[in-house]
Amino acid sequence: MSNPSTTDNVVVVAVDGPAASGKSTVSRALARMLGYNYVDTGAMYRAITWKALEEGIDVEDPIAVIAMIHRIKITFEIVDHQARMLIDGFYPGDAVRKPHVTEKVSTIAAMPEVRHVLVQHQRSLTKLGSLVMEGRDIGTVVFPNTPYKFYLEASPEVRARRRKRDLEAMKIDASQEGVKESLQRRDKKDTGRSTSPLQIALGATVIENSNLSVEENAKVLLDHIRQQGQRRGSFGVGGA
Ligand code: CDP
Repeated sequence: MSNPSTTDNVVVVAVDGPAASGKSTVSRALARMLGYNYVDTGAMYRAITWKALEEGIDVEDPIAVIAMIHRIKITFEIVDHQARMLIDGFYPGDAVRKPHVTEKVSTIAAMPEVRHVLVQHQRSLTKLGSLVMEGRDIGTVVFPNTPYKFYLEASPEVRARRRKRDLEAMKIDASQEGVKESLQRRDKKDTGRSTSPLQIALGATVIENSNLSVEENAKVLLDHIRQQGQRRGSFGVGGA
């Protein structure tokens, strides 16, 4: 198999970690620093879940979900250096972050056929250029050959606080304890599933970011990438 992280001098930075570990904000900031596209793969699993719920499909029924995923048309657009997944030409936006979607997304994300379809799309995004991609299986499954792999984590309290703040920004009220339990439930499902479970990829740099700001955390990643690129004698000229 050719190395999908190095095709045509395209660089892939893989960022994985549990729920609310800061992957999205840090990856977005890092992509901006590098001038790469930013890809949130969690938003893709969320969009499929959102669509299934919109259509009244039983999300516990893999046959119904798989039939839907083969029926819909998935396309992408890049807006402000961020990849957006459209379903039948529609971008669901923040609707995918609502609690009823969040509660079901790990069920749908555990279905191997769903993962197979989305992973193909995720790999295809390298044709649009270098990218920072975040999720649960980017360093382990989607781009296992990229030399730039990170695993972010933070304490359960810090993660619950961050997620509560995100929800408040969307005018959704939730207790700190409720948010913490919801994150724990999802982490358990994501690490315990048999297909592409959340785990630290071989060779990944693990960063505990409970006490780091977004900018500080992104800078730590950037420094690692630069150092590693210099060692490899390639980063800075586009190649990985
Ligand atoms: O933002 P948050 O940390 O809450 O999660 P997310 O990145 O939006 O991902 C939502 C869910 O999608 C996760 O809990 C996983 O079940 C699933 N997911 C996955 O299985 N594989 C990925 N590469 C990304 C997300």
